[in-house]
Amino acid sequence: MNILEMKHIKKSFSDKAVLQDIDLCVSTGEVVSILGPSGSGKSTLLRCATFLERADSGEISYLGENVVRNDSSGNALYPKRKDLQKAQSNFGLVFQDFNLFPHYTVMKNITHAPIAIQKRAKEEVFQEARQLLAKVGLTDKEDAYPCELSGGQQQRVAIARALALQPKILYFDEPTSALDPEITAEILRVLKQLAAEKMTMVIVTHEIDFARMVSDRVVFMDNGYVVEDGEPEDVIDNPKNERTKAFLKKLHV
Ligand SMILES: Nc1ncnc2c1ncn2[C@@H]1O[C@H](COP(=O)(O)OP(=O)(O)OP(=O)(O)O)[C@@H](O)[C@H]1O
Ligand SMILES: [Mg+2]
Repeated sequence: MNILEMKHIKKSFSDKAVLQDIDLCVSTGEVVSILGPSGSGKSTLLRCATFLERADSGEISYLGENVVRNDSSGNALYPKRKDLQKAQSNFGLVFQDFNLFPHYTVMKNITHAPIAIQKRAKEEVFQEARQLLAKVGLTDKEDAYPCELSGGQQQRVAIARALALQPKILYFDEPTSALDPEITAEILRVLKQLAAEKMTMVIVTHEIDFARMVSDRVVFMDNGYVVEDGEPEDVIDNPKNERTKAFLKKLHV
């Protein structure tokens, strides 16, 4: 079963074509890493997948249910707010800059949306939040405010917060790029554990070794195109495309 299906996605900003006919499917339990040079469209693709950005044309489905499709003139047709929100309940997002609510404690950051938006029972949500904090190694921080935490700790709270929504798929956009190397390792450990638990994830990352280790598939983007899509051993260790080769060479892989 495909959790996410994106077909023929195109997106321009003014005259610049940033996504040029992108297809991306992610099936249950799959971990897909997206690699590619700066400006190749990786973040825009995740932003389109999560409806933070509107595609100009193309199709997007979650769990086999079509959400975005083309109208008769070939422009992307988006559903009403309520249906979009329903589709949004399928995924969680973790970005580079954590964006926790600064005036909420760690616990409230994690429990707010499940209680206020998903209308789940408070007791159950709190209990689950404590389990998630244990999982990301922050049991003793539930009453702390984000400003009292390190970058790595804030990012782990952001991961727990995304997981608390019980998403079918989690998106990460360079979750470690704002962090020091040893703190990066903490975050990668959490992601590795999630991968082992068969959480479906799409991870934009520059951590090539990590991508090789956890991914079922690696997608390489360049200039708004997917130029390579396959198993890590193929894409990272035996790239066919010249651009992929040049990119990896620069990273001394
Ligand atoms: N809101 C926007 N308005 C105008 N141009 C944008 C906007 N967002 C992105 N772009 C442009 O789209 C292109 C792709 O940007 P995007 O952020 O998707 O790249 P990326 O692959 O995530 O790069 P990086 O590795 O640096 O994060 C860039 O040329 C960028 O300047
Ligand atoms: Mg980006």
